[in-house]
Amino acid sequence: MNAKQRAALGAVPYVKDGMKLGLGTGSTVYYFIEEVGKLVADGMQLTCVSTSERTTAQAVALGIPVVDLNTVDRLDLVVDGADEIDPNRNGIKGGGGALFREKMVALAAETCIWIVDESKMVDALGDFPLPVEIVPFGYLHTVRAVEKLGYTGTIRMAGADCYVTDNGNYILDLNLPKGYDPYAVEDALRRVNGVVETGLFLDICDIVCVGAADEQSIEFSR
Ligand code: A5P
Repeated sequence: MNAKQRAALGAVPYVKDGMKLGLGTGSTVYYFIEEVGKLVADGMQLTCVSTSERTTAQAVALGIPVVDLNTVDRLDLVVDGADEIDPNRNGIKGGGGALFREKMVALAAETCIWIVDESKMVDALGDFPLPVEIVPFGYLHTVRAVEKLGYTGTIRMAGADCYVTDNGNYILDLNLPKGYDPYAVEDALRRVNGVVETGLFLDICDIVCVGAADEQSIEFSR
């Protein structure tokens, strides 16, 4: 069993019969969804909302019921991965490009659990580039407006083409200095026309399950 699997198993006991459950995206959540598939196969009743086309495909293949976010008022729980988490449990997401739907689903959930291997736990945000989802129309203007704020970055590519999110948008990956103020960066970016969402998830995560390579997962909660 690897660290991502251990992290995923740490979140499984939080899943209860009858829950409305948000399913995150990424290589760690992959293992969690596999476990949810087993719970459903054993008869647990769950109503799930997905954060990406990838996750939907995996969940549906396992027989997990997936509904549109609009059909539920609130979710009981969302379980997702993260790219970096600081000691305040603020984090960066979007390495897999699903940040917009991930944040929509997380904000609809009563409890948010992140499952990560220990490499994701950092003293301060800044090593992992911050993904920012931007609208394709006039995107070079959006990039220039972001650069005027003093931030530099690159448009994420998929081969020779711009990477396109499930929402039909592009991702601008920003390189920010280690230890930046995430609240100030979030405020500044959200004022830029063309920015749809940032990968900064601030005051959203309640519990982190950290999977180590050779130990039980460890939980940190508010
Ligand atoms: C998807 O867009 C991301 O937010 C992922 O949740 C995040 O990148 C963690 O992914 P891994 O579990 O694959 O590292």
